[in-house]
Amino acid sequence: MSSKVNFDTIAKRYDLINEVISFGLVNLWRSTFSRLVAEGLKRRSVTIVDQDLDVLEIGVGSGKQLHSVLKKINKLNLKTDHVFGIDQSKEMLKIAQNNVNKWEEKNVRLVNLPLEQYSPVDQKFDLVIMSFALRNIPDVFGALEKSKKLLKPGGQLAVLDFSTPRLLLRPFVIIYERFILWRIARLLGGNGHSYRYLTNSIEKWYTPQNVSYLFEKAGFKKMIVKRSWSGIVCTHIYHSPTLAELEDYKRQSSKPLRSVSIMQNN
Ligand SMILES: C[S@@+](CC[C@H](N)C(=O)[O-])C[C@H]1O[C@@H](n2cnc3c(N)ncnc32)[C@H](O)[C@@H]1O
Repeated sequence: MSSKVNFDTIAKRYDLINEVISFGLVNLWRSTFSRLVAEGLKRRSVTIVDQDLDVLEIGVGSGKQLHSVLKKINKLNLKTDHVFGIDQSKEMLKIAQNNVNKWEEKNVRLVNLPLEQYSPVDQKFDLVIMSFALRNIPDVFGALEKSKKLLKPGGQLAVLDFSTPRLLLRPFVIIYERFILWRIARLLGGNGHSYRYLTNSIEKWYTPQNVSYLFEKAGFKKMIVKRSWSGIVCTHIYHSPTLAELEDYKRQSSKPLRSVSIMQNN
């Protein structure tokens, strides 16, 4: 899957177009995702190691999803320590910076780098989110592996993206996406080519089962996988192995194989 959308060219209209082409539903998708992220964080005994959370959004765009997640974290009476948003699009980050300046949270830093080049020294995260971003990264498996490296042991990776709508809805969604959506986006001043690519990428995107397979192959442990809004979007929340699990792996791999010890007894 190759990224052919130049987000710099659609940055100024990105949020407006999202609202119109989704009939305002994008805000509900975002709050469902934030609620599920909060649910994941409440299962702290399984995963989270720190009280004050270090949070990262990869492909932060204009920052809307990050803000929604931070507000939910506050409602859980949890605190954040370091909050980072990274994005390869300079123009998207300009919009994000304007938004961040108005937020209550003052500890948010934005970094203009692609995930592939982002390797902060001495900084790992309790929570990494990706909202409508994983689909735009050409090497999806590589992105999951890289995210795992950015997490503390037991840290959570939460991904929101489009999914396969339920059967009855599917023909309407396909007609809307193929023939109508990108024309509306163009009317609103968006780049028609980019929005055609976006809808094409949604149709070609993996099923939730395939995404889960990639998570598991990258070494993550499942927490929550939920299709919402008639299957239009899907949330995957997984955690990286905890310290106890890592110790367990070490113990298992240092044990002599049973067949070997039987041979030795003989
Ligand atoms: C569809 S937008 C989603 C923005 C935001 N997360 C949201 O929920 O509205 C995808 C964002 O991912 C960014 N992006 C795509 N590939 C990236 C990469 N390899 N590294 C960092 N950002 C990337 C794009 O520049 C864009 O801002």
